[in-house]
Amino acid sequence: MSVTESAVLDALRSVQDPDLHRDIVTLGFVKEVKIDGSAVSFSVELTTPACPVKEVLQQQCEDAVAALEGVEKVDVTMTARVRDRVAEAQDLIPGVKQAIAIASGKGGVGKSTVAINMAIALAQTGAKVGLLDADIYGPSIPLMMGCSDARPFTQDGKIVPIEKHGIHMMSLGFLLEEGQAVLWRGPMVAGTVKQLLADVAWGELDYLLVDLPPGTGDAPMSLAQLVPLSGVVIVTTPHNVAANIAGKSAALFRRLNSPIIGVVENMAKFICPGCGSESRIFKGMSGEQLASTLGVPYLGSVPMDPYISESSDEGEPSLVKFPDRPQGEAFRSIAKILASQASILAIGKSDLATKSAETGLFQPVQ
Ligand SMILES: Nc1ncnc2c1ncn2[C@@H]1O[C@H](COP(=O)(O)OP(=O)(O)O)[C@@H](O)[C@H]1O
Ligand SMILES: [Mg+2]
Repeated sequence: MSVTESAVLDALRSVQDPDLHRDIVTLGFVKEVKIDGSAVSFSVELTTPACPVKEVLQQQCEDAVAALEGVEKVDVTMTARVRDRVAEAQDLIPGVKQAIAIASGKGGVGKSTVAINMAIALAQTGAKVGLLDADIYGPSIPLMMGCSDARPFTQDGKIVPIEKHGIHMMSLGFLLEEGQAVLWRGPMVAGTVKQLLADVAWGELDYLLVDLPPGTGDAPMSLAQLVPLSGVVIVTTPHNVAANIAGKSAALFRRLNSPIIGVVENMAKFICPGCGSESRIFKGMSGEQLASTLGVPYLGSVPMDPYISESSDEGEPSLVKFPDRPQGEAFRSIAKILASQASILAIGKSDLATKSAETGLFQPVQ
């Protein structure tokens, strides 16, 4: 007796997405089931190409279907489609599926470093990634990405992002003369952030990462008010001052209905280049403690590594220049956890939106 599509789907209901806590059939991940005698093929569409459990899920799918009577060959193709933010009718960045801000309380904790290397890590998984430098007082993306001389052109009335290492970038640094300082007040900051979103040809992107200035000033406020953010990543160093102000920054975003995706700890560990031993240098609140205080996921820790500052000073992302050092692995792992947490938030929101449409009882969280 040959196997049926419904038997295949039933078998696949035993495969759970560990983050979304539902089976992959209910989640609508299983596509294109084809049955040819005893050979079964189908694809599984994940919520991000950076899924940390891709291989595990693939194996579980294979095993579940292979166990069916009458099946001799199973062919599983893993694909990904990043799910949309619940966008408002007049979204400034309609082609962007997920907009993720990188924030901190204090300056110099490594926001730009984390933003750049997250962008590279996500792009390396096959995602389409943009990087917006919203640190309008001290734009550093152009220098750190080694393209400070680039000048964007305009096409059809929109500014075309600068592209390097597969990342589509925009920064005020590309638009200002060298050495020109910005001395703007609140409303001008809001206007500029709006322009960097609406007047740039961002096109279709899976992820737009937004590198913010430190603290709770005008730029983070305007950003959260101008576009529905998928969420915010808080970068912190293990100093109590950093953690304390990071908490305030998290509170601001929550007030503005932007969920906190999680906390990244930077420069807490030093891995000795000679013997490889690991030591924690500072005694302040760790990223893990801050995450648990805020009640949000802890995304991981980037070790202190002289190669990171060397590469950023030379304008080469450290993940490109030194992919095999311990920080490279840390960046890749954090990017995967970040992408899966953002998917969890997106799926939660669309669930609420569906329930809201069905029953009128729930309002989507924006
Ligand atoms: N893990 C790290 N190891 C070594 N140097 C780092 C690390 N993270 C950041 N840096 C360096 O610290 C400085 C500040 O980082 P940056 O990303 O510009 O911080 P922010 O954007 O928060 O102001 C930069 O010179 C950067 O190269
Ligand atoms: Mg910065």
